[in-house]
Amino acid sequence: MIPTQIVVGAAIVRGGSVLAAQRASPAHLRGRWELPGGKVDPGETDEAALVRECHEELGVRIRPIERVGPDVLLPVRPNAPRALLRVWTAELTTGEPEALEHLELRWLTADTLSTVDWLPADLPFLDHIRSRLSGG
Ligand code: C5P
Repeated sequence: MIPTQIVVGAAIVRGGSVLAAQRASPAHLRGRWELPGGKVDPGETDEAALVRECHEELGVRIRPIERVGPDVLLPVRPNAPRALLRVWTAELTTGEPEALEHLELRWLTADTLSTVDWLPADLPFLDHIRSRLSGG
């Protein structure tokens, strides 16, 4: 059986805002916004991948808090393995996020969450994140 590729995303929350990151690559995703994260490596736990990816992309340490929303099917090339996006809320434990691999970072509130052009797979998580930002 072809294994499913799990992709993890972090909704890093601080003081009523969540961190959004603007992709630099690949070309067809450049300029779109995402929750920072990436592919889980073989043998790696989802939470470890989340911590690793946030360190690589943002230069920070985070702590995953809880899963939010469903597993969302990612668009993949024909014949490529199925891929699912899985999201956690998280908090910063060390450092201030820097756009090491992204074009720009932005802290968004419940009111401004929908002001950026999110990747389609991230859209189903926004209502869950908004309710947490609003104290729900
Ligand atoms: O970041 P990376 O390239 O490893 O992500 C793998 C795939 O998952 C990409 O196709 C990207 O579009 C998708 N992804 C996403 N939303 C995220 C993180 C990744 O759609 N928050």
